[in-house]
Amino acid sequence: QPRELLPPPERFAPRRVPTLPSLTDPVALHALRASLSQWQGHLWRAGEADGQPRIRRSPADGRELGDVYLADTDAVHRAYTRAWEAFEDWSRRPVSERADTVRRFAGLLEQHQAELLYLLMLEGGKTFTDAFADWREAHDFCGYYAQQAEALQGAPRVLDHVSGEANQLTWHARGVFLCISPWNFPLAIFCGQVLAALVSGNTVLAKPASDTPFIAWRAVQLLHEAGVPEAALHFIGGEASRISDALLNAPALAGVAVTGSTATAKHIERALAAREGPLLPLIAETGGLNVLIADSSALPEQLVRDVLTSTCTSAGQRCSALRVLLVEDTLLDRLLPKLQGAMASLKVGHPALLASDVGPVINAGARDQLEQARAGLRRHARWSAVTPQVDPALGEQGFYVAPEAALVDWEHLPEEEIFGPLLYIAAWRHDERDKVIDYIERTGYGLTLGIHSRIQAHIDGWVKRARVGNLYINRNQIGAVPGCQPFGGERLSGTGFKAGGPHYLMRFCTERVVTDNR
Ligand code: SER
Repeated sequence: QPRELLPPPERFAPRRVPTLPSLTDPVALHALRASLSQWQGHLWRAGEADGQPRIRRSPADGRELGDVYLADTDAVHRAYTRAWEAFEDWSRRPVSERADTVRRFAGLLEQHQAELLYLLMLEGGKTFTDAFADWREAHDFCGYYAQQAEALQGAPRVLDHVSGEANQLTWHARGVFLCISPWNFPLAIFCGQVLAALVSGNTVLAKPASDTPFIAWRAVQLLHEAGVPEAALHFIGGEASRISDALLNAPALAGVAVTGSTATAKHIERALAAREGPLLPLIAETGGLNVLIADSSALPEQLVRDVLTSTCTSAGQRCSALRVLLVEDTLLDRLLPKLQGAMASLKVGHPALLASDVGPVINAGARDQLEQARAGLRRHARWSAVTPQVDPALGEQGFYVAPEAALVDWEHLPEEEIFGPLLYIAAWRHDERDKVIDYIERTGYGLTLGIHSRIQAHIDGWVKRARVGNLYINRNQIGAVPGCQPFGGERLSGTGFKAGGPHYLMRFCTERVVTDNR
C-alpha cells in the first residue's frame, strides 16, 4: 500500500530556521569581509600525504591555493576496509547522537565561515553572495537532515495488524556509501550528500570534484572534529575516472549518491548493474535544459530581473539555471530593449570584489566550450544582448565568460545542456501554448521550469503538463532552500528522491518490518 511506504507528512515538525549574520547589515558585512582577507596567501593541503601531490590554482586569478594528494587504488581499498569496519559502531549509535554530531558540525561551519567563504570564492570562483548562499545551504542541510533522521529512525512505526500480532516498520542504514559531488556547489552539495548518508547511520567515502578539493577536505576535517569517527568518513582526492574501478567494484559498497552529468550517472548505473552481489541504490542528480515560459501578461521588469538571476548567477553554472526563454511574440518589443540594458549593466569580474555580478567559470576547458557554444549562438542570432567582456588583464589569469542572450528560430534551440551564462530565446504565438511543452518533452530533461504569467488558466495548463521536478511561478528558478523547495528532477535530470526534501534520507536506508506473534 502506498500509504505504508512513506511516513505521513505530519511526522515532520516545522524546520528551525537558524540565526545567521545578515548581509544587509553593513557593519556585519564589513566585519565578515575583513575576516576573509586573513586567508589571502594561505596554502591548503588536502588528502593523505602518501598520495601524489598536485598544485591547485584559483579559476579567478591563477593564484596557487595549495596541494591536493591524489588517492590511488590502494588508498581506496584501505578506505573501504576501514569504513566497513566502522559501520557497525556508527550505525548502532542512537540517531539522536548522530543528529547532535551533525548539529555540532553546523556550529563549526559558523566558526569557520570566513575560511569556507574564502575558499568558495577563490577555489570555487563564486561571487561573495553566491559563496554565502552555498555556505548557507550547507548549514541548512545540517538542521534539516538532523531533524529528518530523528523523525525517520527515532521510533519504530506501528503498522496495521491482525489480532494477536504486532507489526513494526523501521529504517536502517545500508553500509558504506560512495558520495560523488560536483564543483558547482562544492560545500552545499558535498555536505548535503555526506550528511544524509552519515546521519542515517551509513559510513562514507566522499569523492569531491577534482576542481574543488580544499573546501571538501576542510568539511571532512570539521565533520571529524564534530564527532564523526575518522574511520566512518574518508576523503578521496583526485579524478574519479582514474580510480573508478576501485570505487565502484568494492564489495563493501552499499550505495552511490552522485551529482553530475547524466552521462556520469549512466556510467555508474551500468557499473553497478554489472557487479556481482546485491542490488545497490543509485541516487543521481544530473543536468537540465531548463526553460522559462513568459506570456504577454508577464511584467517585463520583473521578468528581466528573474531571467538575469536565473541565467547569470554562479556564471550560469547551476543545474537549475535558465537556458531557454520561450516568450509570447507580442511581449518581445517590451522585453528585449530592457533585457539588453540589463545585460549591458552586469559586471563580470573577480569574485572577491563586491561589485562583480558574474565571476569566473571553473576551468579553461569550461571556458573554451562556452566560447564555442557562443559562436554557435551568434551564428543563428536574429537579435542579441551581451555583457561587456572582462578586463583583459584578469582574463589572462582566470577563466571568464561574458553572459550573452540571443533570439533564434526554434530549430536552433539547444538539445544539450550548456553549462554557463548563455541564453537562447525563441518566440511563440498565442495559439502555440503547447509548443513550449513539446520542446521540454523533446529535450528529455526535467529539472526546473519558470513561468511568468498573470493568467491563471495559462499557469495551470503548463504546470499540469510539464514533467519537471521544480516549477517556479513569477520568480527566478534557482536557489532551492532545503525543507522549502526540495530539489531534483526527473527523466534525464535524475532519479530522486529530492535533496533537502522529506524523503531523501529514505534512499540511504533500507526498511525492515518485524511481525511479532505474541
Ligand atoms: N539547488 C541549486 C539551485 O536550486 C542547484 O543545484 O539553484
